[in-house]
Amino acid sequence: MQYLAAGMAVTGSGSASPAASLDNHGLSQIVDTSDEWIATRTGIRSRHLANAQESLAHLGAIAAQNALSMAQVAATDIDLILLATSTPDDLFGSACQIQAELGAKHAVAFDLTAACSGFVFGLITAAQFIRTGVYRNILLIGADVLSRWVDWTDRRSCVLFGDGAGAVVLQANENDRLLGFALHSDGCLHDCLNVNYKGKARPLTQGMEVAQGTYQPISMNGKEVYRFAVNRVPEVIEKALFQANLSTADIDWLLLHQANQRILDAVAKRLKMPAEKVISNMANYGNTSAASIPLALDETVRQGQIKPGDTIAASGFGAGLSWGAAIFQWQR
Ligand code: UT7
Repeated sequence: MQYLAAGMAVTGSGSASPAASLDNHGLSQIVDTSDEWIATRTGIRSRHLANAQESLAHLGAIAAQNALSMAQVAATDIDLILLATSTPDDLFGSACQIQAELGAKHAVAFDLTAACSGFVFGLITAAQFIRTGVYRNILLIGADVLSRWVDWTDRRSCVLFGDGAGAVVLQANENDRLLGFALHSDGCLHDCLNVNYKGKARPLTQGMEVAQGTYQPISMNGKEVYRFAVNRVPEVIEKALFQANLSTADIDWLLLHQANQRILDAVAKRLKMPAEKVISNMANYGNTSAASIPLALDETVRQGQIKPGDTIAASGFGAGLSWGAAIFQWQR
């Protein structure tokens, strides 16, 4: 069915985390590290990790269900389910499994991969469907189980990541609450952060072979990613603000991908934003990739801090490399 073009509003949020968590002391039994090093260099104290029975699709479905309840939207009224993830249970995509679990039988569902930028890229993708009048109710889920791909012998990266899911309901609205955005990619920096596929030649017939293997653990140049984030993130937020005809003084909340507290502090400083406006929950979750922004949004909303009408500057950044920002108001 084709609807009239509309604005978009973020009308509900939800999140979910695996039950088990591992704190820095526990991690120091696995690799040569310490609570002191991890906390001072990253701000992370603990992370939730999914066990072998916990699927990404189930985590995503719980987050989605919570978002639907807050928005008071029935699963059967959802037109589109977008799952931002780099760690699907099924390489063909996990969004359809979430659709089935929710009973969202009228929704089309597909995955979108943009690593830690996935939620922001998904938000802007969803906005195109709503603004052009194609769909009215969209469920956007950011979920990742990076623990499956972490090199648990590499102390430079394994201390950073955690598992989780966050979701938002996006609805057609008379007033457009998405005020501005900017998205970027630079594939020349792909080597800085990746989970590459590596296959071995397997001959099929004479002169014909295929490459079969698996993905390699996360490979990361932490210093380069850090430098990239503190330079590109303030820039992309300013670009999105310019598009929205707003300045940093108009922003109630700075909602960055939860990668490292030092990155959050450096970005806030460059934007001249006070610490009270910076949302941070990485101490308890670590970097949950595509889940980090909706998870932090949901926690802050449920704590009663974010109020209807508040203006939020969200920015995701990570592998690709990719980065983006979206300026939006919470609820109708
Ligand atoms: O979604 C995006 C994902 N990626 C990121 O967000 C990564 C961004 N980068 C960062 O967050 C930081 O670069 C890290 C937290 C990864 C590293 O912090 P750093 O201040 O850049 O540390 P470093 O890599 O320069 O390492 C300093 C020292 C080294 O020892 P030496 O060579 O000076 O003797 C490391 O071997 O700290 C050592 N080190 C550790 N020590 C204890 C590295 N990791 C650890 C560790 N525990 N876990």
